Order: sequence, then C-alpha cells, then structure tokens
Amino acid sequence: MEQPSGHAENADQIAYWNGPSGQRWADRHAAQESLLGPIADVLIDRARPKPGERVLDVGCGSGATTFAFAKAVAPDGFALGLDVSDPMLSQARAFAPKGLPLDFVLADATVHPFEPVSFDLLASRFGVMFFADPVASFTNLRRALKPSGRLPPP
Ligand SMILES: C[S@@+](CC[C@H](N)C(=O)[O-])C[C@H]1O[C@@H](n2cnc3c(N)ncnc32)[C@H](O)[C@@H]1O
Repeated sequence: MEQPSGHAENADQIAYWNGPSGQRWADRHAAQESLLGPIADVLIDRARPKPGERVLDVGCGSGATTFAFAKAVAPDGFALGLDVSDPMLSQARAFAPKGLPLDFVLADATVHPFEPVSFDLLASRFGVMFFADPVASFTNLRRALKPSGRLPPP
C-alpha cells in the first residue's frame, strides 16, 4: 500500500486513514453513501458547479462527490479528488464512471504542490476537519484557487 508523505503534524491522520480504520471506512462504502448521499446533494446544490469549471474536492475519500462535481462541470471542466488514504482512493479510481473529466491524487492537502491559481471551486464533504494545522492547510489550498475562486456558502 502506498502512503503519502505529508505535513509532519498530519502523520497520525495519514497513518489512521491508511490503516485498519481507513480500510474499514472503505469496506463500508455502500452504507456510508446511503447515509451521506443527502449531504452530497446539499453540498453540490450550494457549491453550484458550472460547466467548464475546475473543482478541487479535498479529502474526497471513495470519490462520490468528485464524480458528482465532474458530471456537473463536464465536458470542458475538471474535478480533482485529493486524499491521503490509499484504500479510499483505490476505490475512487475503481468506481469512477468512464468518460468523466476527473483525476485523483494521493496527497496531503496541507503540503501538496497544487498548480497555483488553477481552481474555481474548492469543496469537501467532511474532508477538511482533520488538519493538524488548519491555517497552513487552508493557506496552501488558497494558493490553488483563482482570485475569483470560491467555497460553497454555509
Ligand atoms: C470522514 S472521511 C470523508 C471522505 C469523503 N469526503 C466522504 O464524504 O465520503 C475524511 C477523509 O479526509 C481524508 N483526509 C484527512 N486528512 C487529510 C489531508 N490532510 N489531506 C487530504 N485528505 C485528508 C481522509 O483520508 C478521509 O478520506
């Protein structure tokens, strides 16, 4: 199993999401989705992704929200799902519907060298509350957003 290097203070979380707990979460994918599906609907509705936009889905897990964003921005947009968990991202890659404009990266959002000023929308379903140093993490994520870039409103 691959495990990303990351911010030193995120080491516990990276180990957690790549260990038995991450695997358990992945194994319960179908049940989690029936529980969290309505929250994805609210997230997508509030985020208002538009065709042609570039979306960064942080802590994307098994990819359900990344798929939804990719569908909304297709055919000319793009959705990137980023996560530290190899078990969850393996599922995301396996479950991804063919033909959607999306990709996944195994990386720590706090330190990943995103292409600067490259995303219109940054979103997450329960993937941004595990950062040991939220200021460092959101500073890094902000660099990836265009000046007009947005978060879904609360
Ligand atoms: C509660 S799960 C939510 C997964 C997915 N968004 C969903 O709704 O099914 C939290 C996710 O955040 C990821 N995560 C935690 N810390 C992260 C970090 N520093 N960078 C990227 N992903 C992270 C975990 O690996 C895990 O997949």
